Amino acid sequence: MSRTDKPSSEPLVIRSLAFLGGQASPGGWRPESSLPEIAFSGRSNVGKSSLLNALVRHNSLARVSQTPGKTREINFFAVNDALMLVDLPGYGYARVSQEERAKWRPLIESYLETSTQLRGIVQLLDVRRDPSPEDRQMLEFLAELGAPTIVTVTKADKLSATRAAARIAEITASLGLEPEQVIPFSAVTRLGRDELASAIEDLVAAPSWRQE
Ligand code: GTP
Ligand code: MG
Repeated sequence: MSRTDKPSSEPLVIRSLAFLGGQASPGGWRPESSLPEIAFSGRSNVGKSSLLNALVRHNSLARVSQTPGKTREINFFAVNDALMLVDLPGYGYARVSQEERAKWRPLIESYLETSTQLRGIVQLLDVRRDPSPEDRQMLEFLAELGAPTIVTVTKADKLSATRAAARIAEITASLGLEPEQVIPFSAVTRLGRDELASAIEDLVAAPSWRQE
């Protein structure tokens, strides 16, 4: 076995990444694919693009999600022709109308209810903020659906390690989560990158939770 044939110890090594397009409305166009899907959800500005970029070590995800309009769509990225990362629109953006803010729900919920390939969701929370009503609604929706959910508490570098650990314990308890469900994350220091990548690999390898 040559050196390059050795399996890497790094989880989820990205060999290829392709943006396949965006879904703009419930039941609207989406890429046809049979790849297992992992969806990423969180309020606007929580650090979703930064987390996705840290996860795949690539900047094309950020470029797409900064394209005006694209951030209100569900964006699909194929990784290694083996799995699909699904970037859900950020909710709770303060500068849009109440009406506009209400649109995220049907789009996100219809995706979560109907995508047969969905293997799990990564829900992002900000270490410095208490979970918003919309964060709680989303987690309740996921719990009712029964979809495997990983919570990442991001921007951990914004606090001291002690303070971050205390905040994460508070957030975990206030949401009634198990500590094992929660991954501390930082796009700046890459804290949690490999743990999240391994958790995603495990979800993809496990049988689907969905009764088909
Ligand atoms: P929208 O797509 O606009 O809703 O935002 P988003 O959730 O994709 O957040 P984005 O990744 O664009 O990050 C928002 C801001 O937070 C940016 O200024 C980032 O640089 C910053 N940020 C994101 N993640 C981290 C992190 O882990 N640590 C620190 N210090 N800053 C972060
Ligand atoms: Mg973004």
